[in-house]
Amino acid sequence: MATEPKQVSGEELDHDLAELLEIERFEPPAEFRERALLNDPAVYEEAARDPRAWWAKQAAELDWFEPWDTVLDDSEAPFYKWFTGGKLNVSYNCLDRHVLAGRGERVAYHWRGEEGQERDITYAELLAEVKRFASALKDQGVKKGDVVGIYLPMIPEVVVAMLACARIGAPHNVVFGGFSAEAVRERMEFSEAKALITVDGAARKGKTAPVKERVDEVMGDLATLQKIIVVRSKDVPCEMRAGRDVYYDEICAAADPECEAEPLDAEHPLYILYTSGSTAKPKGILHTTGGYLTGVSATHRYVFDLKPESDVYWCAADVGWVTGHSYIVYGPLANGATSVMWEGAPDYPNRGIWWEIVEHYGVTILYCAPTAIRACIKWGADWPNGHDLSSLRLLGTVGEPINPKAWLWYHKVIGSEQCPIVDTWWQTETGAIMITPLPGITATKPGSATQPFPGVAAQVLAESSGEPLEEGQGLLVLNGPWPSMLRTLYKEPERYIETYFKRFGSETYLVGDAARRDKDGYFWVIGRIDDVVNVSGHRLSTAEVESAIVAHPDVAEAAVIGQHDEDTGQAIVAFVTLQGDLEGDEHTVEGIRATVAERIGKFARPKRMIWTDDLPKTRSGKIMRRLLRDIAEGRALGDVTTLRDPAVMSQLEDRVKEMQAQED
Ligand code: PRX
Repeated sequence: MATEPKQVSGEELDHDLAELLEIERFEPPAEFRERALLNDPAVYEEAARDPRAWWAKQAAELDWFEPWDTVLDDSEAPFYKWFTGGKLNVSYNCLDRHVLAGRGERVAYHWRGEEGQERDITYAELLAEVKRFASALKDQGVKKGDVVGIYLPMIPEVVVAMLACARIGAPHNVVFGGFSAEAVRERMEFSEAKALITVDGAARKGKTAPVKERVDEVMGDLATLQKIIVVRSKDVPCEMRAGRDVYYDEICAAADPECEAEPLDAEHPLYILYTSGSTAKPKGILHTTGGYLTGVSATHRYVFDLKPESDVYWCAADVGWVTGHSYIVYGPLANGATSVMWEGAPDYPNRGIWWEIVEHYGVTILYCAPTAIRACIKWGADWPNGHDLSSLRLLGTVGEPINPKAWLWYHKVIGSEQCPIVDTWWQTETGAIMITPLPGITATKPGSATQPFPGVAAQVLAESSGEPLEEGQGLLVLNGPWPSMLRTLYKEPERYIETYFKRFGSETYLVGDAARRDKDGYFWVIGRIDDVVNVSGHRLSTAEVESAIVAHPDVAEAAVIGQHDEDTGQAIVAFVTLQGDLEGDEHTVEGIRATVAERIGKFARPKRMIWTDDLPKTRSGKIMRRLLRDIAEGRALGDVTTLRDPAVMSQLEDRVKEMQAQED
């Protein structure tokens, strides 16, 4: 029920949060439970008894052109296949079937531009645009199976582009708009993309950043890339290379407005999304059609308790990450949801913009990252308190562990203590949410993602023995396959096995996170066990950042670690050795940060840089990052006897202390 927004002072709030901190479990509010799509815990038993039958029931919610004959083919495990023999089309399921069922006038997206521009796009309108652009792609020579790159900001055309690719069976390869053009080039090269859809320029907090121009600087000699399609979004003049570059609006105007959705095998590739692994080379996560759509639609429906006729759902992520793929585009559209799509940042034109949007569109479900919540805490409760947030009925988080204080603030200030919070744990690889509360069933504990979704099995294994732990800390694994799992690493099948299935065999997926199980069997995800860092929910490999830093001409060697950070979860700290006798100064710091921005993107720039004459290495020359992490976190140093030169450590300790003194 609607409640009046509460006005609380900072002091009262701290006091209230401290009181809430005493509460260990938050039961779903009775009224929520009563109306929830799922409110009987028997669903867990049903799914566990026969996971294949449970997933088949979820898949049957989709429209299939031809039914499947086998739910799960595990004959080549860990290369699993789901719903084999079945044929369907993702764009048909996301659009046509809603329009055919008379839901064409429902708004798919309330799009809101940075400067307050508004565009409501109905399912019928979205379908018409997708058909036209799908025809235009074919006119440009894009065929089923061709990889199409997409490098677009949060404008409606990014959704159109993804769905048009899905319609004709051309796997897309979306690159987050915050990545640099060089990172785009690398991803286009690895995936041998035939076409790239980009934009003239993008809105960045009141300014316009040129995009096509940057793309041109790096893409010139990439022979596999035959077409660049440019969306005219911000009136930025572009140089168009004859024979290669075309404007989106012009090819759409010339295209056939009809384009039937191609019936595709359930295992036809839907997309590749590059993410960071333990080495500098990003991993091309491959998702396919039937299992992926089954996973994202079922989780979206039940985790968010979606009532498509009445809910206004907002996932405040970027389409360029997996959260955007699964929970801005495919899950919500498959379920016929009405979503909000916001072009900009959470602090432009002011720090209240999110709450203005919630009030304006009557958002009922909000899904965002803990980093954003921590930023809001810093900006103060006056911003949300200035708006009527009583439409909200469910809140979600994703991307990183949420600290209890942020959870409680979200619960109290945003949710008025009325909204269940779903802390959803998953990964680019898993495609869909894996560990999460069900809001009408699960009692939540601040900071815990609680239990695996029905049909998913997870365990914590002891690091040393690999034995499952009823209670305690160890390695998180998922047992057995699930429909939305990655199928392979694009063009690197051996790396797929090596990364996820070598340690415990092809039935047990190694997640790469450490986790703890408590006395009630709840899962608490702690963080990565590999050289992957999570900055504001953005996944980066330390090796990737290191290789960007050493590209700077003054740098001889670098080692990067993730350090705990109050605002961003983790922050990047770089230990850098310069060439010869060079001394590092502000100028060098800026130069290195600029190199990283150019190679990867601004979000990967180190927060701290520590100059060092040498790095702690073993006798065989391996950098001991564990020791660097100990130093940065101010912990007692572990065993240093295996170091080639133990004296390195005292110099480093001094440097870190100096630096911390300066910062204080
Ligand atoms: O370490 C976990 C963390 O994010 C990693 C996956 O990152 P990515 O593939 O970029 O996907 C992020 C969005 C799904 C995981 O291995 N992570 C994600 N969600 C949570 C989390 N850590 C704790 N709690 C979560 N809810």
